[in-house]
Amino acid sequence: MATTRIFACFLGASLAFAQDTYTFTPSISFGSNGFANWGAGTWPPASVGEVLVPQSTDSETLSLLQQMDPARIQTTIQTLVNFGTRHTASVTTSPTRGIGAARIWLMNEVTELAKPSNGMMNVSMPCYLQAAVPRSGMPIAAQVCNVQVEIKGSVDANRTYVYTGHYDSRRLNNSDYTGDAPGADDNASAVAIALEMIRILAPVVAKTPPAASIIIATVSGEEQGLYGSNFLAQTLKNASRNVQANFNDDIVGSGSNAPFSPQNQHTIRVFGAGTDYLTINSSIIKEIISTGYQDDTPSRHLGRYIQEVNAGASNVTEMDVALIYKPDRFFRGGDHESFLSAGFPAVRFTEPQEDFYHQHQDPRVQDSVTYGDEIEYVDFEYTARVGKVNLLSLWSIANAPATPSNFTYDTNIGFLAESLDTPPSYLENIIKLYWDVADDPLLDYYEVVWRPMASQQWTHTLNVGLANTTIIPVSKDNAVFGLRAVGKDGKKSPATYTLAVASQYFG
Ligand SMILES: *[C@@H]1O[C@H](CO)[C@@H](O)[C@H](O)[C@H]1NC(C)=O
Ligand SMILES: *[C@@H]1O[C@H](CO)[C@@H](O)[C@H](O)[C@H]1NC(C)=O
Ligand SMILES: *[C@@H]1O[C@H](CO)[C@@H](O)[C@H](O)[C@H]1NC(C)=O
Ligand SMILES: *[C@@H]1O[C@H](CO)[C@@H](O)[C@H](O)[C@H]1NC(C)=O
Ligand SMILES: *[C@@H]1O[C@H](CO)[C@@H](O)[C@H](O)[C@H]1NC(C)=O
Ligand SMILES: *[C@@H]1O[C@H](CO)[C@@H](O)[C@H](O)[C@H]1NC(C)=O
Ligand SMILES: *[C@@H]1O[C@H](CO)[C@@H](O)[C@H](O)[C@H]1NC(C)=O
Ligand SMILES: *[C@@H]1O[C@H](CO)[C@@H](O)[C@H](O)[C@H]1NC(C)=O
Repeated sequence: MATTRIFACFLGASLAFAQDTYTFTPSISFGSNGFANWGAGTWPPASVGEVLVPQSTDSETLSLLQQMDPARIQTTIQTLVNFGTRHTASVTTSPTRGIGAARIWLMNEVTELAKPSNGMMNVSMPCYLQAAVPRSGMPIAAQVCNVQVEIKGSVDANRTYVYTGHYDSRRLNNSDYTGDAPGADDNASAVAIALEMIRILAPVVAKTPPAASIIIATVSGEEQGLYGSNFLAQTLKNASRNVQANFNDDIVGSGSNAPFSPQNQHTIRVFGAGTDYLTINSSIIKEIISTGYQDDTPSRHLGRYIQEVNAGASNVTEMDVALIYKPDRFFRGGDHESFLSAGFPAVRFTEPQEDFYHQHQDPRVQDSVTYGDEIEYVDFEYTARVGKVNLLSLWSIANAPATPSNFTYDTNIGFLAESLDTPPSYLENIIKLYWDVADDPLLDYYEVVWRPMASQQWTHTLNVGLANTTIIPVSKDNAVFGLRAVGKDGKKSPATYTLAVASQYFG
């Protein structure tokens, strides 16, 4: 579709028109859902680098994903539902009902599943006494206990990736700690994924532990105040652990029962927070926003990482990852916020369209409508696919080199010819980048990535070897840039976030 475009420009006091012969070809394509795909256009042009192809996953990791078992997921959810209620303050003296019986079962089950790890999985149940907070659903004090495994990293045990899913449940009245609260989708589904990951990884880590540490935790007290996840995040913060990510799954079960099935059966949303949770001062945040890097927080880079790794293995996961640039759903929250508050990157996985009839509701039939978070509204095949996305990204990230550090850019603007002697090399539409080369045995080379401002995902990549600086001939107005580390086995780290306040000057 050729058009002739007329350009107008002022020449002194007179108006002149020039005709160009440029042939305009629309680059906007439309996906099957009818939405325009603006992101992957060919603009801005680049004379360097390559179009980014999603990284692929080794066949050993892909074969782990195939072991994610919907039948076991069903059994775990059914077992948890059978405890009647798992309210954080519910009974702890019954062997069959309440949160006490549920956590004893979880501890026994996890201990059994971890046995093939030959001690490489450290199973524990750290607890603390949470005082009563009547206004937020804790009418009485109660023990809050997390059931977790830790796998120590073989290259950098300090660098840690944490999966969380909460096993407590609630009713419409959050203070009601005695009535039935099945909590199948919310959030036994996420606990079932935790148990599957422990089962699948146990024999693997016995032989080959991950390069960085992994913690897989089922946490309690979410519904009343994110108590268990906060306890875990603060414990890690107090121990000065280098926590690089929290993957929090919560409400990952509806699949075929959600509206817009079947599309929704093959999509998982990943929520990532913006600058609001960055633990850096306001002047740095202002500069991040003024340079357009507000979508390049560690949590959003984590989301991009999960989306890309999944895209490269989607013939196995059979899932799409939808990135949501929000900390959580509308006016709602979850356990990943405990990690964000502790200064750690964190994302939340949630089904694409929630089924509000079947979460937090008291089980009942009212006006012929069935309410309640019951197991018949969970699609185990869907939860298994979500589990594959989690296992894939958790195992890949813990075996990739560390995310690079101290990535920054030159603040030279370009057009400002400050003196007659300003060299022409200053007058280019380019960006100069700097970073520190890490002493990381996993590292093979660095890769600069960039994308046009309106794209969610990186579109371009350039291998820069083991240099600590490079110049990219792409206008810094039209793109945002990241840096990632590529391992000797091809696994790539998430991109690092850019320190917007650059100290170096072009030289
Ligand atoms: C196992 O984990 C618990 C809880 O994090 C910790 O207190 C304990 O020291 C760990 N044990 C080993 C052997 O690492
Ligand atoms: C909620 O449950 C608590 C504990 O059973 C009870 O004291 C309270 O009255 C209930 N609130 C409402 C609004 O029913
Ligand atoms: C972490 O340290 C703070 C300050 O010392 C302390 O108040 C808090 O109880 C600790 N939290 C945990 C979970 O260890
Ligand atoms: C772990 O990493 C953190 C920073 O990420 C650092 O403050 C801490 O000292 C490290 N701990 C050890 C034991 O190296
Ligand atoms: C913010 O941090 C920067 C860089 O560390 C520092 O130069 C600046 O003084 C800080 N500003 C405030 C308001 O603390
Ligand atoms: C998925 O694609 C990868 C990479 O092309 C290939 O190695 C693998 O065999 C494929 N797996 C399936 C189940 O098709
Ligand atoms: C990043 O900079 C900090 C502060 O200068 C330094 O302590 C740290 O070692 C640097 N990181 C790397 C990977 O060199
Ligand atoms: C970057 O690397 C060069 C050598 O390749 C070295 O001389 C220089 O000090 C490095 N710069 C920084 C900031 O580390």
